[in-house]
Amino acid sequence: MTVHTPIETRSGGLPPWAIGLTVLLFLIGGVYLAANLTGDNPAFAIPGASVAAPSGDGEPDPAVGEALVAQNQCAACHGADLGGTDAFPSLLGIADGPVSENLQDLAAEHPDAWVALWIDGTVPETEGLDRGGMPAFGGDLSPEQIDAIVAYLRSL
Ligand code: HEC
Repeated sequence: MTVHTPIETRSGGLPPWAIGLTVLLFLIGGVYLAANLTGDNPAFAIPGASVAAPSGDGEPDPAVGEALVAQNQCAACHGADLGGTDAFPSLLGIADGPVSENLQDLAAEHPDAWVALWIDGTVPETEGLDRGGMPAFGGDLSPEQIDAIVAYLRSL
């Protein structure tokens, strides 16, 4: 038979060290959470999670595109202001057509859609094109997200 000690006879509450430890854990947790909420801790950001879904009206949102451009590190190749580098073309003039010789045919055949098709890179239209090291983003980004990127690039 087990003899239970009545609760009221147990010595009072948590020992001081346990209370101290609990307070400390909440403090650490709070600082950690605050750092994540303010975006200071990108290592823990879930890709795409911080980017709002396209607003219901179906218009691609350049602000969403800007966030996606930052998240997908387009600037790592295309330069800090997307103005191009020695090795990579500028993205600032895409409204006037591609800089790259390689993309002239694609743009001639798809004057409106070529930028989205090129960024996607998984579609039949871009099959056989030399990507020059640029990733095909169609596997990671939805067509809506790519349209938002194009809207942003066209606004530059
Ligand atoms: C690893 C390097 C790299 C990354 C990252 C990259 N690109 Fe590119 N991009 C290239 C290269 C190289 C070309 C030129 C390909 C060619 O000449 O055929 C290019 C070409 C382009 C073009 C056509 C430019 C023109 O006028 O000819 C667009 C638009 C473009 N990239 C958009 C993007 C976007 C948007 C992102 C991010 C989502 C991105 N790129 C990320 C390397 C990169």
